Amino acid sequence: MQIINLAVGLLAAGTALASPTSDYLRSLKIREKKFDAPRASSLMPTDKVTTGFFDQKVNHFGKALAGKTFKQQYAINAANVKSNSTGTQVCFFLPGQEGPMAPTDVTRGLPHDLAVKHNALVVTLEHRFYGESNPSLDPKDYWLLTLEQGMEDFNVFVNTFKFKTDDGKPIDCSAGWAAFGGSYSGAVAAWLRLKYPKTFWSAHAGSAPVWAKENFFEYDEVVEAAIPKIGGSQDCVDGLIQTTSLIDSILKSGNKQKITALKAKMNLTGVIDNRDFAAYVTSLPALSAQYGPEYDTLGNQTVMHAICNGTVISDKKAKPQAKLDKLTQLVIAYSAQNGYDASYINTHTSAVIPRDSWWWQTCTEFGFFQTARPGPRSLYSTIVDDEYFRWFCKTNFPGTVIDGNTGLPVEHVKPNASGINKSYLGLSITRAVSNVLFADGLYDPWHALSVYYQKSTVANVIANHLGHHCDEWSSRAAAADWRNQLAKTWDEWITKRIPKKTRPHY
Ligand SMILES: *[C@@H]1O[C@H](CO)[C@@H](O)[C@H](O)[C@H]1NC(C)=O
Ligand SMILES: *[C@@H]1O[C@H](CO)[C@@H](O)[C@H](O)[C@H]1NC(C)=O
Ligand SMILES: *[C@@H]1O[C@H](CO)[C@@H](O)[C@H](O)[C@H]1NC(C)=O
Ligand SMILES: *[C@@H]1O[C@H](CO)[C@@H](O)[C@H](O)[C@H]1NC(C)=O
Ligand SMILES: *[C@@H]1O[C@H](CO)[C@@H](O)[C@H](O)[C@H]1NC(C)=O
Ligand SMILES: *[C@@H]1O[C@H](CO)[C@@H](O)[C@H](O)[C@H]1NC(C)=O
Repeated sequence: MQIINLAVGLLAAGTALASPTSDYLRSLKIREKKFDAPRASSLMPTDKVTTGFFDQKVNHFGKALAGKTFKQQYAINAANVKSNSTGTQVCFFLPGQEGPMAPTDVTRGLPHDLAVKHNALVVTLEHRFYGESNPSLDPKDYWLLTLEQGMEDFNVFVNTFKFKTDDGKPIDCSAGWAAFGGSYSGAVAAWLRLKYPKTFWSAHAGSAPVWAKENFFEYDEVVEAAIPKIGGSQDCVDGLIQTTSLIDSILKSGNKQKITALKAKMNLTGVIDNRDFAAYVTSLPALSAQYGPEYDTLGNQTVMHAICNGTVISDKKAKPQAKLDKLTQLVIAYSAQNGYDASYINTHTSAVIPRDSWWWQTCTEFGFFQTARPGPRSLYSTIVDDEYFRWFCKTNFPGTVIDGNTGLPVEHVKPNASGINKSYLGLSITRAVSNVLFADGLYDPWHALSVYYQKSTVANVIANHLGHHCDEWSSRAAAADWRNQLAKTWDEWITKRIPKKTRPHY
């Protein structure tokens, strides 16, 4: 979850790529995509995967569109289930994330490690309104995209579908499912355990923001705390905060000439809304914290190194203007390298609803808006506030969505964080569930909305330098240690739940 404005992407992004208009808020998700792609392809699928489409109800609740179905894409890896087996199997379900599904989702990462060890079945179902699983392509039908509908899709699928071994024998998942996810899908995994405890006996909630929060200023705070630990320094943090103050004082001065000159220097004259501009130029360090410094580079060095190491930004004695000049250089180079220009950064141009499902979910449910932390010291510009995001939501979803149950337009699009929180318990979820493994990264800003500090009956593991949920799925060596640590808990839980003697004997 994945974004300054990386609304969790937390998270990730998929349909963003297909969006006809581009803007900064989406661009960060596309950047996130860029990080995910090489890791996925570096793990070649070695197991046979079956993909297909399941006929799913368009509306699980209420009478509207009764009987209508859509095709929902799934992927199944039964290669590790022995074909001659009978008995209770270990079954893993990966709820789809806020982006397209890939067949490799069921052939890699922690669930795959565990599947090899425990002869488990691994299944995923694409989340509705992402990838190829669309109840509708008409923006007026976005009312069908809710967490509740998505969760019910997952529940119906695992309870209805007849899972089989590669040579056609039924697979017995009667001991229940372990749900596995990272980021948004990590939160969904925990919520599946909460809402359907008979179907899901456990969950892996990787970097899972289970606390829905509209004004997510903690993101900014964690980035600030992370910088000295990921290649920067406290002096660099202080320098960046000075540049932000200077930028803010210009933008708030109302002096059009000065504002235009500031944008021109950064080669961003075409960015019309000052908040879009400020959000972009003050969020340069964010992804280095979220994913780890090695994932965001500028030329032959990390972005973190380019900003902080031996630069005037880290020089206590240097003038704020000199620091801003350096940041200006970096912004120009970064935009040029990644192809980000005004058309990318402007959000006001997306007046027609784009196919951007994750923004619909954040604008109507979770919030997760990455705003400046309160008070005089913030890395993010202070004009990046909740009003900005409310405006963004209204602009992007301007009353075009028709509620199928009432036939009326959905007005006043705004997050329902308190409703989600109430219904799914926020961080108090730990009091209501067992066998949920929360795994978070200390420098991943999303840990602030996850079960990180609490001691509880659920297991709770932290990683001290790894990034946002990626390491459960990545092939790099440091990630293998992390996965082994997590696997220990899973080995115990699985062995207790489905003792070896009740499993098939091979
Ligand atoms: C800063 O850069 C120098 C030289 O490029 C290098 O030796 C040093 O380790 C770097 N420091 C950090 C904290 O990365
Ligand atoms: C990195 O690139 C810069 C020019 O962009 C060059 O001066 C420098 O030597 C390069 N450093 C390394 C370690 O390749
Ligand atoms: C400034 O931005 C334009 C696109 O808006 C780009 O074509 C040009 O190369 C940029 N200039 C620099 C110096 O990066
Ligand atoms: C907000 O969430 C609550 C709990 O899930 C729900 O009852 C309520 O209808 C939601 N409100 C809106 C405006 O969607
Ligand atoms: C939501 O949950 C969090 C954490 O459990 C709690 O602190 C907060 O008061 C709840 N309400 C809102 C509106 O965030
Ligand atoms: C099941 O098949 C495996 C090979 O796939 C074989 O080693 C094992 O003996 C068989 N077990 C039974 C009970 O048939």
